[in-house]
Amino acid sequence: MSKPIAITGGRVIDPAQGIDRVANVLLKDGVVEAVTGTPGAASEGYEEIDASGLVVAPGFIDVHTHLREPGLEHKETVATGTRAAAAGGFTTICAMPNTEPAQDNASTIEFVLRLGREQGVVRVLAIGAVTVGRAGVQLVEMAELADSGVIGFSDDGSPVADPNLMRQALTYSQITGLPIINHCEEPSIAGAGQMQMGVIASHLGLSGVPSEAESVMVERDIALAELTGGRLHVAHLSTRRSVEAVRRAKERGLRVTAEATPHHVSITEAWVYGLGGAMPDDGALTTKAYDTNTKVNPPLRTQDDVDAVVEGLADGTIDMIATDHAPHATVDKECTYQEAAHGISNIETAFGSCMVPVHAGSLSLEDLIERMTAAPARFLGMNLGTLKPGFPADVVVLDPNAKWTVDPTAFFSKGKNTPLSGTTLKGRVVTTLYAGEVVHEARAHAG
Ligand code: DOR
Repeated sequence: MSKPIAITGGRVIDPAQGIDRVANVLLKDGVVEAVTGTPGAASEGYEEIDASGLVVAPGFIDVHTHLREPGLEHKETVATGTRAAAAGGFTTICAMPNTEPAQDNASTIEFVLRLGREQGVVRVLAIGAVTVGRAGVQLVEMAELADSGVIGFSDDGSPVADPNLMRQALTYSQITGLPIINHCEEPSIAGAGQMQMGVIASHLGLSGVPSEAESVMVERDIALAELTGGRLHVAHLSTRRSVEAVRRAKERGLRVTAEATPHHVSITEAWVYGLGGAMPDDGALTTKAYDTNTKVNPPLRTQDDVDAVVEGLADGTIDMIATDHAPHATVDKECTYQEAAHGISNIETAFGSCMVPVHAGSLSLEDLIERMTAAPARFLGMNLGTLKPGFPADVVVLDPNAKWTVDPTAFFSKGKNTPLSGTTLKGRVVTTLYAGEVVHEARAHAG
Protein backbone atom coordinates (compact mmCIF):
# COMPACT_ATOMS: atom_id res chain seq x y z
CA MET A 1 0.00 0.00 0.00
CA SER A 2 1.42 3.39 -0.97
CA LYS A 3 1.95 6.33 1.33
CA PRO A 4 -1.06 8.29 2.57
CA ILE A 5 -1.67 11.51 0.66
CA ALA A 6 -2.70 14.97 1.86
CA ILE A 7 -4.14 17.26 -0.79
CA THR A 8 -3.65 20.58 0.89
CA GLY A 9 -5.04 24.08 0.75
CA GLY A 10 -7.53 23.66 -2.11
CA ARG A 11 -11.15 24.80 -2.32
CA VAL A 12 -12.92 21.51 -1.64
CA ILE A 13 -16.26 21.22 -3.43
CA ASP A 14 -18.14 18.06 -2.51
CA PRO A 15 -21.81 18.64 -3.36
CA ALA A 16 -23.00 15.35 -1.83
CA GLN A 17 -21.88 16.59 1.59
CA GLY A 18 -22.62 20.25 0.98
CA ILE A 19 -18.92 21.05 1.43
CA ASP A 20 -17.47 24.14 -0.22
CA ARG A 21 -14.51 25.44 1.79
CA VAL A 22 -10.74 25.59 1.82
CA ALA A 23 -9.51 22.40 3.49
CA ASN A 24 -7.17 19.42 3.26
CA VAL A 25 -8.28 16.07 1.87
CA LEU A 26 -6.54 13.12 3.50
CA LEU A 27 -6.39 9.80 1.67
CA LYS A 28 -5.21 6.58 3.26
CA ASP A 29 -5.34 2.91 2.25
CA GLY A 30 -7.25 3.70 -0.93
CA VAL A 31 -10.11 5.50 0.80
CA VAL A 32 -10.88 9.02 1.99
CA GLU A 33 -9.74 9.49 5.57
CA ALA A 34 -11.06 13.00 6.15
CA VAL A 35 -11.73 16.47 4.78
CA THR A 36 -10.16 18.48 7.51
CA GLY A 37 -7.63 20.71 9.07
CA THR A 38 -5.82 23.93 8.64
CA PRO A 39 -5.40 24.72 4.98
CA GLY A 40 -1.84 24.25 3.88
CA ALA A 41 -0.67 22.21 6.86
CA ALA A 42 0.19 18.73 5.64
CA SER A 43 -0.07 15.94 8.14
CA GLU A 44 3.16 14.27 9.12
CA GLY A 45 3.93 11.11 7.19
CA TYR A 46 1.65 12.11 4.31
CA GLU A 47 2.82 12.82 0.82
CA GLU A 48 1.63 16.33 0.00
CA ILE A 49 -0.15 17.49 -3.13
CA ASP A 50 -0.35 21.28 -2.99
CA ALA A 51 -3.76 22.37 -4.24
CA SER A 52 -3.66 26.00 -3.13
CA GLY A 53 -5.52 28.18 -5.60
CA LEU A 54 -7.15 25.06 -7.08
CA VAL A 55 -10.44 23.20 -6.67
CA VAL A 56 -10.53 19.70 -5.16
CA ALA A 57 -13.56 17.56 -5.97
CA PRO A 58 -14.63 13.91 -6.09
CA GLY A 59 -13.40 12.17 -9.25
CA PHE A 60 -15.84 12.59 -12.12
CA ILE A 61 -18.21 9.77 -13.10
CA ASP A 62 -19.12 9.20 -16.75
CA VAL A 63 -22.15 7.00 -17.38
CA HIS A 64 -21.62 7.00 -21.17
CA THR A 65 -18.19 6.09 -22.58
CA HIS A 66 -17.33 4.22 -25.76
CA LEU A 67 -14.27 2.09 -25.02
CA ARG A 68 -14.50 0.06 -28.27
CA GLU A 69 -13.11 -3.14 -26.81
CA PRO A 70 -13.74 -5.92 -27.79
CA GLY A 71 -13.56 -5.68 -31.53
CA LEU A 72 -12.72 -2.08 -32.39
CA GLU A 73 -9.31 -1.78 -30.75
CA HIS A 74 -8.02 0.36 -33.62
CA LYS A 75 -10.33 3.13 -32.29
CA GLU A 76 -9.75 2.70 -28.54
CA THR A 77 -8.96 0.08 -25.93
CA VAL A 78 -9.82 -0.21 -22.28
CA ALA A 79 -6.19 0.72 -21.52
CA THR A 80 -6.14 3.87 -23.69
CA GLY A 81 -9.73 4.89 -22.91
CA THR A 82 -9.22 4.70 -19.15
CA ARG A 83 -5.93 6.60 -19.42
CA ALA A 84 -7.77 9.29 -21.39
CA ALA A 85 -10.52 9.27 -18.75
CA ALA A 86 -7.93 9.89 -16.03
CA ALA A 87 -6.62 12.87 -18.02
CA GLY A 88 -10.18 14.17 -18.12
CA GLY A 89 -10.62 13.84 -14.36
CA PHE A 90 -12.88 10.77 -14.54
CA THR A 91 -12.37 7.97 -12.05
CA THR A 92 -15.42 5.89 -12.96
CA ILE A 93 -16.63 5.28 -16.51
CA CYS A 94 -19.37 3.09 -17.97
CA ALA A 95 -18.55 1.18 -21.16
CA MET A 96 -21.24 1.37 -23.83
CA PRO A 97 -22.17 -1.91 -25.53
CA ASN A 98 -21.69 -1.04 -29.22
CA THR A 99 -18.61 -3.21 -29.35
CA GLU A 100 -18.01 -6.19 -31.67
CA PRO A 101 -19.42 -8.48 -30.49
CA ALA A 102 -21.96 -6.31 -28.72
CA GLN A 103 -22.08 -6.44 -24.93
CA ASP A 104 -25.33 -8.38 -25.11
CA ASN A 105 -24.33 -11.46 -23.09
CA ALA A 106 -22.79 -12.19 -19.70
CA SER A 107 -19.45 -13.47 -21.00
CA THR A 108 -18.75 -10.29 -23.00
CA ILE A 109 -19.72 -8.17 -20.01
CA GLU A 110 -17.43 -10.21 -17.76
CA PHE A 111 -14.63 -9.83 -20.34
CA VAL A 112 -14.97 -6.03 -20.37
CA LEU A 113 -15.12 -5.83 -16.57
CA ARG A 114 -12.01 -8.05 -16.32
CA LEU A 115 -10.16 -5.86 -18.85
CA GLY A 116 -11.15 -2.88 -16.73
CA ARG A 117 -9.71 -4.44 -13.59
CA GLU A 118 -6.53 -5.66 -15.28
CA GLN A 119 -5.77 -2.86 -17.74
CA GLY A 120 -7.84 0.10 -16.62
CA VAL A 121 -6.31 2.94 -14.64
CA VAL A 122 -9.78 3.98 -13.41
CA ARG A 123 -12.94 2.05 -12.51
CA VAL A 124 -14.75 0.49 -15.46
CA LEU A 125 -18.42 -0.41 -15.21
CA ALA A 126 -20.40 -1.92 -18.08
CA ILE A 127 -23.71 -1.29 -19.78
CA GLY A 128 -25.51 -4.18 -21.45
CA ALA A 129 -27.31 -4.01 -24.78
CA VAL A 130 -31.12 -3.86 -24.75
CA THR A 131 -31.49 -6.13 -27.77
CA VAL A 132 -29.51 -9.07 -29.12
CA GLY A 133 -26.71 -7.75 -31.35
CA ARG A 134 -28.24 -4.28 -30.84
CA ALA A 135 -30.41 -5.24 -33.79
CA GLY A 136 -33.61 -3.94 -32.22
CA VAL A 137 -35.54 -7.20 -32.63
CA GLN A 138 -35.22 -9.39 -29.53
CA LEU A 139 -34.55 -8.44 -25.92
CA VAL A 140 -31.34 -9.69 -24.32
CA GLU A 141 -31.49 -11.93 -21.24
CA MET A 142 -31.90 -8.96 -18.95
CA ALA A 143 -31.84 -10.83 -15.65
CA GLU A 144 -28.67 -12.70 -16.65
CA LEU A 145 -26.94 -9.46 -17.67
CA ALA A 146 -28.09 -7.81 -14.45
CA ASP A 147 -26.46 -10.68 -12.53
CA SER A 148 -23.23 -10.15 -14.48
CA GLY A 149 -23.07 -6.63 -13.06
CA VAL A 150 -24.32 -4.25 -15.76
CA ILE A 151 -25.43 -0.85 -14.50
CA GLY A 152 -28.13 -0.44 -17.15
CA PHE A 153 -29.14 -1.33 -20.68
CA SER A 154 -28.67 0.59 -23.92
CA ASP A 155 -28.48 0.02 -27.67
CA ASP A 156 -26.67 3.36 -27.91
CA GLY A 157 -25.61 4.33 -31.38
CA SER A 158 -29.07 3.06 -32.31
CA PRO A 159 -32.44 3.70 -30.69
CA VAL A 160 -34.80 1.03 -29.45
CA ALA A 161 -37.07 2.01 -32.32
CA ASP A 162 -39.86 -0.56 -31.85
CA PRO A 163 -42.22 0.97 -29.28
CA ASN A 164 -43.47 -2.36 -27.97
CA LEU A 165 -39.92 -3.65 -27.48
CA MET A 166 -39.15 -0.48 -25.55
CA ARG A 167 -42.28 -1.07 -23.50
CA GLN A 168 -41.10 -4.60 -22.69
CA ALA A 169 -37.58 -3.40 -21.84
CA LEU A 170 -39.03 -0.80 -19.45
CA THR A 171 -41.26 -3.47 -17.91
CA TYR A 172 -38.17 -5.61 -17.22
CA SER A 173 -36.36 -2.59 -15.82
CA GLN A 174 -38.93 -2.59 -13.02
CA ILE A 175 -37.77 -6.09 -12.11
CA THR A 176 -34.01 -5.53 -12.45
CA GLY A 177 -34.17 -2.01 -11.04
CA LEU A 178 -31.76 -0.94 -13.79
CA PRO A 179 -32.41 1.91 -16.24
CA ILE A 180 -33.11 1.62 -19.95
CA ILE A 181 -30.78 4.22 -21.48
CA ASN A 182 -32.28 5.12 -24.82
CA HIS A 183 -30.60 6.85 -27.75
CA CYS A 184 -33.71 8.79 -28.66
CA GLU A 185 -33.77 9.25 -32.42
CA GLU A 186 -36.78 8.30 -34.50
CA PRO A 187 -35.11 6.69 -37.57
CA SER A 188 -37.97 7.39 -39.93
CA ILE A 189 -37.61 11.11 -39.20
CA ALA A 190 -33.80 11.25 -38.97
CA GLY A 191 -33.45 9.41 -42.27
CA ALA A 192 -30.03 9.99 -43.80
CA GLY A 193 -29.65 13.39 -42.16
CA GLN A 194 -26.07 14.48 -41.63
CA MET A 195 -26.42 17.48 -39.32
CA GLN A 196 -29.01 19.68 -37.65
CA MET A 197 -31.73 20.68 -40.11
CA GLY A 198 -31.79 24.40 -40.83
CA VAL A 199 -30.20 27.24 -42.73
CA ILE A 200 -26.63 26.04 -42.18
CA ALA A 201 -27.41 22.52 -43.45
CA SER A 202 -29.11 24.05 -46.49
CA HIS A 203 -26.17 26.37 -47.09
CA LEU A 204 -23.75 23.44 -46.92
CA GLY A 205 -26.00 21.21 -49.01
CA LEU A 206 -26.15 18.58 -46.29
CA SER A 207 -29.37 16.76 -45.48
CA GLY A 208 -30.75 17.82 -42.13
CA VAL A 209 -32.12 16.05 -39.07
CA PRO A 210 -34.95 17.96 -37.39
CA SER A 211 -34.86 18.28 -33.61
CA GLU A 212 -38.15 16.41 -33.50
CA ALA A 213 -36.37 13.17 -34.48
CA GLU A 214 -35.16 13.25 -30.88
CA SER A 215 -38.06 14.80 -29.03
CA VAL A 216 -40.80 12.57 -30.43
CA MET A 217 -38.96 9.55 -29.09
CA VAL A 218 -38.29 11.23 -25.76
CA GLU A 219 -42.05 11.88 -25.49
CA ARG A 220 -42.81 8.29 -26.53
CA ASP A 221 -40.41 6.86 -23.97
CA ILE A 222 -41.80 9.04 -21.20
CA ALA A 223 -45.29 7.75 -22.02
CA LEU A 224 -43.99 4.17 -21.92
CA ALA A 225 -42.16 4.79 -18.63
CA GLU A 226 -45.46 6.00 -17.21
CA LEU A 227 -47.32 2.99 -18.60
CA THR A 228 -44.87 0.43 -17.24
CA GLY A 229 -43.49 2.14 -14.14
CA GLY A 230 -40.06 1.42 -15.62
CA ARG A 231 -36.88 3.40 -15.24
CA LEU A 232 -36.00 5.54 -18.27
CA HIS A 233 -32.73 7.38 -18.82
CA VAL A 234 -32.48 9.66 -21.85
CA ALA A 235 -28.99 9.51 -23.35
CA HIS A 236 -27.29 12.63 -24.78
CA LEU A 237 -30.37 14.86 -24.60
CA SER A 238 -29.84 17.80 -26.93
CA THR A 239 -32.94 19.83 -27.82
CA ARG A 240 -35.19 22.39 -26.13
CA ARG A 241 -38.30 20.26 -26.66
CA SER A 242 -36.61 17.25 -25.08
CA VAL A 243 -35.62 19.32 -22.05
CA GLU A 244 -39.22 20.52 -21.71
CA ALA A 245 -40.56 16.97 -22.02
CA VAL A 246 -38.23 15.66 -19.29
CA ARG A 247 -39.08 18.64 -17.08
CA ARG A 248 -42.79 17.84 -17.35
CA ALA A 249 -42.14 14.13 -16.71
CA LYS A 250 -40.21 14.94 -13.55
CA GLU A 251 -42.93 17.31 -12.36
CA ARG A 252 -45.30 14.36 -12.65
CA GLY A 253 -42.99 12.19 -10.58
CA LEU A 254 -42.03 9.70 -13.28
CA ARG A 255 -38.83 7.65 -13.05
CA VAL A 256 -37.03 9.58 -15.74
CA THR A 257 -33.44 10.84 -15.72
CA ALA A 258 -31.36 12.47 -18.44
CA GLU A 259 -27.81 13.31 -19.38
CA ALA A 260 -26.21 15.91 -21.67
CA THR A 261 -22.80 15.89 -23.33
CA PRO A 262 -20.01 18.46 -23.05
CA HIS A 263 -20.43 19.36 -26.73
CA HIS A 264 -24.16 19.93 -26.49
CA VAL A 265 -23.60 22.48 -23.70
CA SER A 266 -20.82 24.35 -25.44
CA ILE A 267 -20.82 24.29 -29.27
CA THR A 268 -23.39 24.67 -32.03
CA GLU A 269 -24.18 23.58 -35.58
CA ALA A 270 -22.15 26.58 -36.79
CA TRP A 271 -19.01 24.57 -35.97
CA VAL A 272 -19.64 22.50 -39.12
CA TYR A 273 -18.26 25.52 -41.00
CA GLY A 274 -14.90 24.67 -39.41
CA LEU A 275 -14.36 28.20 -38.10
CA GLY A 276 -14.56 27.56 -34.37
CA GLY A 277 -18.23 28.46 -34.25
CA ALA A 278 -17.96 31.63 -36.35
CA MET A 279 -20.06 32.16 -39.46
CA PRO A 280 -18.20 32.52 -42.75
CA ASP A 281 -17.66 36.09 -43.97
CA ASP A 282 -20.27 37.00 -46.59
CA GLY A 283 -21.35 33.37 -46.52
CA ALA A 284 -18.24 32.27 -48.41
CA LEU A 285 -17.25 28.73 -47.47
CA THR A 286 -13.59 28.04 -46.69
CA THR A 287 -11.63 24.82 -47.06
CA LYS A 288 -12.29 24.24 -43.35
CA ALA A 289 -16.02 23.72 -43.93
CA TYR A 290 -17.52 20.24 -43.61
CA ASP A 291 -15.29 19.50 -40.62
CA THR A 292 -16.08 15.80 -40.18
CA ASN A 293 -15.01 16.04 -36.54
CA THR A 294 -18.24 17.95 -35.94
CA LYS A 295 -20.33 15.00 -37.15
CA VAL A 296 -21.96 13.49 -34.12
CA ASN A 297 -25.21 11.88 -33.15
CA PRO A 298 -27.30 13.64 -31.96
CA PRO A 299 -26.02 16.46 -34.15
CA LEU A 300 -24.66 19.75 -32.87
CA ARG A 301 -27.76 21.88 -32.36
CA THR A 302 -28.79 25.53 -32.47
CA GLN A 303 -27.75 28.12 -29.90
CA ASP A 304 -31.32 28.04 -28.57
CA ASP A 305 -31.00 24.30 -27.94
CA VAL A 306 -27.62 24.77 -26.22
CA ASP A 307 -29.17 27.45 -23.99
CA ALA A 308 -32.09 25.14 -23.12
CA VAL A 309 -29.77 22.24 -22.29
CA VAL A 310 -27.68 24.47 -20.03
CA GLU A 311 -30.86 25.75 -18.33
CA GLY A 312 -31.94 22.14 -17.88
CA LEU A 313 -28.62 21.26 -16.28
CA ALA A 314 -28.77 24.29 -14.02
CA ASP A 315 -32.29 23.55 -12.74
CA GLY A 316 -31.68 19.79 -12.42
CA THR A 317 -34.01 18.72 -15.24
CA ILE A 318 -30.93 17.18 -16.81
CA ASP A 319 -29.41 15.17 -14.02
CA MET A 320 -25.87 14.78 -15.20
CA ILE A 321 -23.11 15.37 -17.72
CA ALA A 322 -22.13 12.23 -19.64
CA THR A 323 -19.41 12.45 -22.26
CA ASP A 324 -20.52 10.09 -25.05
CA HIS A 325 -16.74 9.89 -25.64
CA ALA A 326 -16.73 8.40 -29.15
CA PRO A 327 -13.18 7.80 -30.39
CA HIS A 328 -12.74 6.98 -34.06
CA ALA A 329 -9.77 6.15 -36.27
CA THR A 330 -8.42 8.83 -38.61
CA VAL A 331 -9.75 6.97 -41.66
CA ASP A 332 -13.26 7.14 -40.20
CA LYS A 333 -13.10 10.94 -40.40
CA GLU A 334 -10.80 11.62 -43.37
CA CYS A 335 -13.58 11.30 -45.90
CA THR A 336 -16.67 13.18 -46.99
CA TYR A 337 -19.12 14.44 -44.40
CA GLN A 338 -21.64 11.86 -45.61
CA GLU A 339 -19.21 8.99 -45.20
CA ALA A 340 -17.75 10.06 -41.85
CA ALA A 341 -18.49 8.19 -38.64
CA HIS A 342 -20.50 9.93 -35.93
CA GLY A 343 -18.73 10.89 -32.75
CA ILE A 344 -16.36 13.16 -30.86
CA SER A 345 -13.39 12.05 -28.77
CA ASN A 346 -14.03 14.30 -25.81
CA ILE A 347 -13.28 12.71 -22.48
CA GLU A 348 -10.05 14.74 -22.19
CA THR A 349 -11.74 18.03 -23.06
CA ALA A 350 -15.00 17.43 -21.16
CA PHE A 351 -14.26 19.62 -18.16
CA GLY A 352 -12.98 22.52 -20.29
CA SER A 353 -16.07 22.33 -22.52
CA CYS A 354 -18.43 22.18 -19.55
CA MET A 355 -16.75 25.27 -18.13
CA VAL A 356 -17.98 27.30 -21.13
CA PRO A 357 -21.45 27.86 -19.59
CA VAL A 358 -19.85 28.30 -16.16
CA HIS A 359 -17.61 31.13 -17.39
CA ALA A 360 -20.61 32.57 -19.25
CA GLY A 361 -22.48 32.76 -15.93
CA SER A 362 -25.30 30.38 -16.86
CA LEU A 363 -24.22 27.41 -14.70
CA SER A 364 -22.45 27.46 -11.34
CA LEU A 365 -19.23 25.55 -10.78
CA GLU A 366 -20.82 23.85 -7.76
CA ASP A 367 -23.75 22.64 -9.88
CA LEU A 368 -21.43 21.47 -12.65
CA ILE A 369 -19.43 19.41 -10.16
CA GLU A 370 -22.67 18.00 -8.71
CA ARG A 371 -23.75 16.93 -12.20
CA MET A 372 -20.40 15.16 -12.72
CA THR A 373 -20.09 13.48 -9.30
CA ALA A 374 -23.01 13.17 -6.89
CA ALA A 375 -25.73 12.95 -9.56
CA PRO A 376 -24.20 10.08 -11.59
CA ALA A 377 -23.35 8.30 -8.30
CA ARG A 378 -27.03 8.49 -7.30
CA PHE A 379 -27.98 7.19 -10.74
CA LEU A 380 -25.61 4.24 -10.29
CA GLY A 381 -26.74 3.70 -6.69
CA MET A 382 -23.11 3.29 -5.66
CA ASN A 383 -20.96 4.64 -2.84
CA LEU A 384 -19.03 6.95 -5.17
CA GLY A 385 -18.92 10.60 -6.13
CA THR A 386 -18.20 12.09 -2.71
CA LEU A 387 -15.29 12.60 -0.32
CA LYS A 388 -17.05 11.04 2.68
CA PRO A 389 -14.67 9.16 4.99
CA GLY A 390 -14.38 5.52 3.95
CA PHE A 391 -15.41 6.16 0.34
CA PRO A 392 -12.96 5.35 -2.47
CA ALA A 393 -10.12 7.88 -2.66
CA ASP A 394 -11.17 9.06 -6.13
CA VAL A 395 -10.31 12.72 -6.38
CA VAL A 396 -9.75 15.37 -9.02
CA VAL A 397 -7.79 18.60 -8.66
CA LEU A 398 -9.01 21.28 -11.05
CA ASP A 399 -7.91 24.69 -12.20
CA PRO A 400 -11.16 26.32 -13.37
CA ASN A 401 -9.33 29.34 -14.79
CA ALA A 402 -6.33 27.75 -16.52
CA LYS A 403 -6.34 28.29 -20.27
CA TRP A 404 -5.00 25.60 -22.56
CA THR A 405 -5.10 24.89 -26.25
CA VAL A 406 -6.52 21.58 -27.39
CA ASP A 407 -3.96 19.47 -29.23
CA PRO A 408 -5.43 16.09 -30.17
CA THR A 409 -1.97 14.69 -30.95
CA ALA A 410 -1.35 14.93 -27.20
CA PHE A 411 -4.53 12.97 -26.32
CA PHE A 412 -4.10 9.70 -24.48
CA SER A 413 -7.16 8.48 -26.37
CA LYS A 414 -6.54 6.81 -29.71
CA GLY A 415 -9.38 8.95 -31.02
CA LYS A 416 -8.00 12.29 -32.24
CA ASN A 417 -11.43 13.24 -33.61
CA THR A 418 -12.26 16.55 -32.01
CA PRO A 419 -13.57 19.75 -33.59
CA LEU A 420 -11.79 21.61 -30.75
CA SER A 421 -8.28 21.17 -32.14
CA GLY A 422 -6.50 24.52 -31.73
CA THR A 423 -9.30 25.92 -29.55
CA THR A 424 -8.43 27.48 -26.22
CA LEU A 425 -10.45 26.12 -23.31
CA LYS A 426 -10.59 27.72 -19.87
CA GLY A 427 -10.68 25.02 -17.21
CA ARG A 428 -8.16 22.25 -16.76
CA VAL A 429 -7.75 18.98 -14.91
CA VAL A 430 -4.52 19.18 -12.93
CA THR A 431 -4.33 15.90 -11.01
CA THR A 432 -6.51 12.78 -10.89
CA LEU A 433 -6.30 10.18 -8.15
CA TYR A 434 -7.99 6.81 -8.31
CA ALA A 435 -8.19 4.65 -5.18
CA GLY A 436 -5.57 6.89 -3.59
CA GLU A 437 -3.03 6.66 -6.42
CA VAL A 438 -2.14 9.48 -8.83
CA VAL A 439 -3.28 8.34 -12.28
CA HIS A 440 -2.86 11.68 -14.05
CA GLU A 441 -0.71 14.71 -13.33
CA ALA A 442 -0.88 17.56 -15.83
CA ARG A 443 1.84 19.55 -14.09
CA ALA A 444 4.36 16.81 -14.92
CA HIS A 445 3.31 16.93 -18.59
CA ALA A 446 3.09 20.69 -18.90
CA GLY A 447 6.51 21.07 -17.24
O1 DOR B 1 -21.93 10.29 -32.28
C1 DOR B 1 -22.13 9.21 -31.76
N1 DOR B 1 -21.17 8.27 -31.72
N2 DOR B 1 -23.33 8.96 -31.20
C2 DOR B 1 -23.66 7.74 -30.75
O2 DOR B 1 -24.74 7.57 -30.27
C3 DOR B 1 -22.70 6.62 -30.87
C4 DOR B 1 -21.32 7.11 -30.93
C5 DOR B 1 -20.32 6.05 -31.36
O3 DOR B 1 -20.38 4.93 -30.87
O4 DOR B 1 -19.43 6.37 -32.17
